[in-house]
Amino acid sequence: MNSAATGRVAAIIPAAGSGIRLGADIPKAFIELAGISLLTRSALAMSVVADVIVVAAPTNELKQASDLLADVDAEVHVVAGGEQRQDSIANALKVLPEDVSIVLVHDAARPLIPVEVSQRVVSQLRAGAQAVIPVLEIADTIKKVDSANKVISTVDRNELRRVQTPQGFTRAAIDQAYANPEIVATDDAGLMEVLGIEVVTVIGDERAMKITTAHDLQIATALIGVTND
Ligand code: C5P
Repeated sequence: MNSAATGRVAAIIPAAGSGIRLGADIPKAFIELAGISLLTRSALAMSVVADVIVVAAPTNELKQASDLLADVDAEVHVVAGGEQRQDSIANALKVLPEDVSIVLVHDAARPLIPVEVSQRVVSQLRAGAQAVIPVLEIADTIKKVDSANKVISTVDRNELRRVQTPQGFTRAAIDQAYANPEIVATDDAGLMEVLGIEVVTVIGDERAMKITTAHDLQIATALIGVTND
């Protein structure tokens, strides 16, 4: 395997989730934002930094996913997703070419990721980090509540960060994390924490927002309008 200083970069795009929370009856990644699907937008953004792109698509929609990736300038693979996001990523890891030394994992649901964020992640990995995540500070005051929604305490927001994607890992680190299917976490950096691998942060970007609800889709549409001005 090549070292992270020199090997090829791959981006895994988990895109096998449903569109239920968006009120859509098609997979979320196939929903269009100003006429271009979330999947196409995310893959085009990743292709600026990645040589290889592996998309985990809904099992019955592999052809449609491939069609949406026709104009992406990278070595593109489409695999079937799994029950959970982590299963989808595990399936994608299985087809990575041998010479890939850096693996980015980027949610299809974050289509407006600016290239600078991906570049910040890759450059930290090239410089020797094993795991890198883009993060943002928190503007709101955060309260901890009990099961009856009564306030227990105020959490120090200076110690908290919102985490975005692409999260980046050396091939060795992500292979190690996924070699052990019993380890479960809500994001890939969480797997690294369980393994005791140091996770470095870089500055994210509000445009890398995750589209979960119809309201998010409206905000993203407005952001495109601003960007095009
Ligand atoms: O559902 P959520 O927005 O948290 O999903 C984050 C990303 O993971 C989305 O891009 C979604 O398509 C993907 N996903 C997946 N396989 C699943 C569930 C979610 O690839 N089983």
